[in-house]
Amino acid sequence: MKLPIHRWFRYSAGFSAKWVEQEIQRHCRDGKEKINVLDPFSGSGTTLLAAEAVQAKAVGFEPHPFIHRVAQAKLGWGNTDTYQLQKMAEEILKKAQERNTEGERPDALDAPLLKKCFTDDSLNKLDALKDVFLADFDNGAAEHELLWLCITSILRPCSTAGTAQWQYVLPNKKKAKVSDPFSAFSLKMNQLIDDIGIVGKQGWLSGAQILRTDARDPQYTAEDAFDLVITSPPYPNNYDYADATRLEMTFWGEITGWSELHSSVRQYLLRSCSQHSAKEKLQLNILLEDDVLSPIAGELTKACRELEQIRLTKGGKKTYHTMAAAYFTDLGNVFHALRPLCKKDGRMCFVIGDSAPYGIYLAVDKWLGELALAAGFTSYSFEKLRDRNIKWKNRKHRVPLQEGRLWIEG
Ligand SMILES: C[S@@+](CC[C@H](N)C(=O)[O-])C[C@H]1O[C@@H](n2cnc3c(N)ncnc32)[C@H](O)[C@@H]1O
Repeated sequence: MKLPIHRWFRYSAGFSAKWVEQEIQRHCRDGKEKINVLDPFSGSGTTLLAAEAVQAKAVGFEPHPFIHRVAQAKLGWGNTDTYQLQKMAEEILKKAQERNTEGERPDALDAPLLKKCFTDDSLNKLDALKDVFLADFDNGAAEHELLWLCITSILRPCSTAGTAQWQYVLPNKKKAKVSDPFSAFSLKMNQLIDDIGIVGKQGWLSGAQILRTDARDPQYTAEDAFDLVITSPPYPNNYDYADATRLEMTFWGEITGWSELHSSVRQYLLRSCSQHSAKEKLQLNILLEDDVLSPIAGELTKACRELEQIRLTKGGKKTYHTMAAAYFTDLGNVFHALRPLCKKDGRMCFVIGDSAPYGIYLAVDKWLGELALAAGFTSYSFEKLRDRNIKWKNRKHRVPLQEGRLWIEG
């Protein structure tokens, strides 16, 4: 989060941009001058920007509409006229300040979540920025998308609410340090403009593409296009990527409450949380019949059946049994979709973590490796980076877990 452009929006990236740069350079040294990089779960664009920093071409997939817009805005740095951007930012701020002193109370920002997360003063100022943006600057130009990103990325610093680990918003947990929206907007805009200057001087290659598409069935057809895949998919650990952007999407009026997250976002994503499998009322028997799971059917079925029983003994009765089956089905389909897009002498790196819902271990590295082989890749190996769940505090179970890199060759 200290690197130019990467630092514009906080999101759980899964890995560092510097590491991605090194991997791309290492792959180039393995005999290739120019390589094409793919990130099928590109999120806020860490891989794509790292590729631009080392002058490699890159494509990403991301179906989360809000996160796709964030990444697209960041990648627009190369088409941005910073002089124009500066002038537009000054105009927005001036008009918003004038509007704010008129003292109108915003109806649009009456959502309960927003009222819990901001003081009235901050909400009035944020609403003024939003109104001026929507009235005069929302036509999709690169500069306009950066103005949108600038307003979006000051929401959390200006909120009194705490942010949980991994960025859920906790309205009942109060923060000590809260920024003023107008000052935060100016500071953030300075950072954007500075960073565009920095990466221009560093000679980044602009033009990486991010498509709003699903890695299970990407609307992208170039055969043998990619030399290197670097990605971090969702883990099967119940993290809800839809909920992670609830504050921002509520602010922009894209959802009015928690219940809309499924139809607006979650339904387009990999099934990696129990909110998803519960909402879609998935049936375990039907999921386990899918041919794509055949390489891991024995072990996966055993784990899912155990989860099916254990949940009945738990208060929350979470649907981890169908979540697990759906998660591996989805990743199996992703490997089948990636096979034709990747070169035969290519390499993929999936940064992954295993999990143990209700204490039942899911062998993510081994099972994903087997699914990749069944899709036509030639070999896999797992490089452990760190242990998780080994401290004794705050734990729901004591199964040792790990995070690392699943390397898939061929
Ligand atoms: C660990 S995050 C990746 C973060 C990314 N490395 C970054 O720089 O921000 C996983 C991402 O996968 C996305 N995702 C979920 N389901 C997907 C799908 N079916 N196809 C492509 N991306 C998906 C999520 O929305 C999330 O942004």
